Amino acid sequence: MITYKELGLVNSKNLFQKAVKGGYAIPAFNFNNLEQLQAIIGACVETKSPVILQVSSGARKYANQTLLKHLAKGAVDYAKELGYAIPIVLHLDHGDTFELCQSCIESGFSSVMIDGSHLPYDKNVELTAKVVEYAHKYDVSVEGELGVLAGIEDEVSTGVDSLAISIGTSHGANKFTPAQCTRNAEGILVPPPLRFDILEECEKRIPGFPIVLHGASSVPAELVKIINSNGGKLQDAVGIPEEQLRRAAASAVCKVNIDSDGRLAMTAAIRKVFNDSPAEFDPRKYLGPARDALKVLYKHKIVSVLGSADKA
Ligand code: G3H
Ligand code: 13P
Ligand code: ZN
Repeated sequence: MITYKELGLVNSKNLFQKAVKGGYAIPAFNFNNLEQLQAIIGACVETKSPVILQVSSGARKYANQTLLKHLAKGAVDYAKELGYAIPIVLHLDHGDTFELCQSCIESGFSSVMIDGSHLPYDKNVELTAKVVEYAHKYDVSVEGELGVLAGIEDEVSTGVDSLAISIGTSHGANKFTPAQCTRNAEGILVPPPLRFDILEECEKRIPGFPIVLHGASSVPAELVKIINSNGGKLQDAVGIPEEQLRRAAASAVCKVNIDSDGRLAMTAAIRKVFNDSPAEFDPRKYLGPARDALKVLYKHKIVSVLGSADKA
């Protein structure tokens, strides 16, 4: 067992308290590889933002648990080397079993999500409470996933430190069907607004409690355009407009999960290199531009959407 403190990481408790009070949200960026991690840390150091590094179970399998532990420690040292020791949380995204959460905690994660949303409500509460009991022994934060609004107080009584709620966001680059959207003058799909009424109800029932927004990518039309004009085929891609995310970040939403926008930025940059320079075969020549594009994207999210710049 290695504790997150030995790796130089922090849990999310203080970060969330400050974010709720300060009316901003901490970025939770998913990563699977070195270039994504370099871009995240570079962007967060340059903007002086705290950060949550998110690893899904798929990412954990892809990157390897042992390497991840060293990458997280490396991220802490890298931030210092870049000139500013930002607070870094290492978080398990969508953990679906007790054993997975336990294994991550034992290898240095400072925060876990127990996502029991696939279970009947009572079983979800039971599993969540079991993870909380274990995680809190090591001062590790726990995010729970709420099934229905009616259960909001029950879920908090399990002892979770934050709650993922559903207000109309969803994962991936096709968050709504065209039938659910309208089209603007340029023919671009405009999604229905987020359910701010539900968010307000949560804030009323559990005042000041940290709320998490999953599925918060905006799916920028310019990235989709670069992908599609360089051989890609993304159809009807649509995300959450940034002004709605800004409004959510100013409320009790204190963690905003972004993965798909990073995937789009990387894919757009790589497709462009392949299209413009078909003879190129040095991975650094396409992963480098992808990393640069990611860093630009992350800085934009921090400064112009989440408001977490200068909060580290
Ligand atoms: O919530 C889903 C995240 O975007 C992670 O996706 O399971 O493909 O790694 P993944
Ligand atoms: P996006 O697919 O909208 O980026 O959401 C990511 C997420 O919620 C990870 O848990
Ligand atoms: Zn998610």
